[in-house]
Amino acid sequence: MTPSLPEILEQQKAYYRARATEYDQWFYRQGRYDQGAAHTQQWQLEVAHVRQQLYDLQLNGQVLELAAGTGIWTQELIRMADQVTALDYAPEVLEINRHKLNSERVDYLQADLFAWQPTQKYDGLFMGFWLSHVPLEKLDSFLANVAQALKPQGKFFMVDSFAASTSTAKDLTQNLSQTLAQRGEIHETTLAQETVLRRLNDGQEFHIIKHYHQPNFLQARFKAHGLDVTMQQTEQFFIYGAGLMC
Ligand SMILES: C[S@@+](CC[C@H](N)C(=O)[O-])C[C@H]1O[C@@H](n2cnc3c(N)ncnc32)[C@H](O)[C@@H]1O
Repeated sequence: MTPSLPEILEQQKAYYRARATEYDQWFYRQGRYDQGAAHTQQWQLEVAHVRQQLYDLQLNGQVLELAAGTGIWTQELIRMADQVTALDYAPEVLEINRHKLNSERVDYLQADLFAWQPTQKYDGLFMGFWLSHVPLEKLDSFLANVAQALKPQGKFFMVDSFAASTSTAKDLTQNLSQTLAQRGEIHETTLAQETVLRRLNDGQEFHIIKHYHQPNFLQARFKAHGLDVTMQQTEQFFIYGAGLMC
């Protein structure tokens, strides 16, 4: 039986806390995520493309990074921003981020994004691989907070997963293919359909929310909150969007 939404959101937080030291294996395609040299090469090519789009936007000034994780994108943001506020729920990932970057230009903020209310406005806001973990019923209230956190003309960038079954760990690829095949139109999605099972290297399992959004769907949701964002996709693995707060 699928757990309730509050239970899943608790499992999601617990999952990322427990996964902190192995998180980077996913992004760097190591261990269970290593699907061969050709796959890694394509992945890196697409990461490089997204990274260049982020540089082209130039997120300067005071930048807020939501669900910052272990610093994979924080390290890019401090190349452009004066100051980055890196927010995440998991103290373990924030500690890795802090240790990795060792920068006075990053402030760390531990907060639950489903309870978070912005207290100031930023020049730029970034989120990597987070929106796909926001349940549909909370998407609009979350995006309202994102809009609140940006100054007029503030810059916005996001990157997330495209529906490639090989982007997850090898042992979960089949589960993901089945999940994708079962999902219908977004407005018909049930909690069971937006929930996936994730496994750590030691075999512990957790239910989390995972969406593979269509760029057009997100672009429309952003627009509804005053964010003029153009969403695009890479060949296989990622969707990304850049834009401004109107
Ligand atoms: C897929 S990771 C993305 C990390 C980072 N942005 C990246 O791209 O490498 C999702 C992040 O969301 C954080 N997270 C999960 N639930 C959260 C919540 N309720 N509030 C804030 N952060 C949360 C996790 O701790 C994790 O660092």
